[in-house]
Amino acid sequence: MISIHAFFHQASSTISYVVYEQASKQAMIIDSALDYSAHTGKLWTEFADQQIAFIANNNLHVEWILETHAHADHISAAYYLKSKLGGRIGAGAGVVEVQKTFIEFFDLDCANITRESQPFDHLFVDNETFSLGNSEVSVIATPGHTNDSVTYLIEGNAFVGDTLFMPDGGTARCDFPGGSAEVLFASIERLHRLPEQTVLWMCHDYQPEGRELKYNCTVAQSKADNIHVGRGNSRDDFVKLRESRDENLDIPRLLYPSVQLNIAAGKLPPKAANGKRFIKQPIAFI
Ligand SMILES: [Fe+2]
Repeated sequence: MISIHAFFHQASSTISYVVYEQASKQAMIIDSALDYSAHTGKLWTEFADQQIAFIANNNLHVEWILETHAHADHISAAYYLKSKLGGRIGAGAGVVEVQKTFIEFFDLDCANITRESQPFDHLFVDNETFSLGNSEVSVIATPGHTNDSVTYLIEGNAFVGDTLFMPDGGTARCDFPGGSAEVLFASIERLHRLPEQTVLWMCHDYQPEGRELKYNCTVAQSKADNIHVGRGNSRDDFVKLRESRDENLDIPRLLYPSVQLNIAAGKLPPKAANGKRFIKQPIAFI
């Protein structure tokens, strides 16, 4: 039997989960977040520290710190959490392509990420399984939002990352490098083929029209009500809708810091000769 505890990171509307197996107290943390001010460059760990306190209070042993994908809107606390709690950092094998893309884009080759090093402890391939105490976790590759997106399935609970939003939120953008609306639709169809009572746990909730926070629904509810992919919408309807919406979206506010750190599992870049750490920001005339 497992327990699931959700933590809401208000600044990025991210839901991060601590999942543990009750008998063994083995735990995994999914989609962690650091606190970050883009304005000042300051990072802090108030949110991650709530999870560390939860782990301590419940006498849990962290086996895994998992990412559903390389996020573009918040900075992962995986490396920080590992330094405090141990465990292994895992992500989908597709992250290798994401790393290549952004190492090249930012002309990065420094101690937190290089063309040769792999900052993740384990990269999961489609259908891989691992155990959490007496429970089994299956990894389902669910590319589309990004090409490294994966879903972690345990005891009828699917942690879907940004592959789906709540039914009234629809779906996430598909216009990042490696993203594809067609591929996302196929991944969602795969999730929608899970048993109807499977609970889908989302990574984000933007609380449309000011409604209260919600972050899970069943496969049956998603299939019936999702405003983009439910209600009988066809693949072509979805692709047209998704692509036309993506054309008008601005880049995420934290895109540049997020991807530079998240492709390195949240490990900060090394200090420059002056003792300070920097992230890169491309500039160009419009
Ligand atoms: Fe995302």
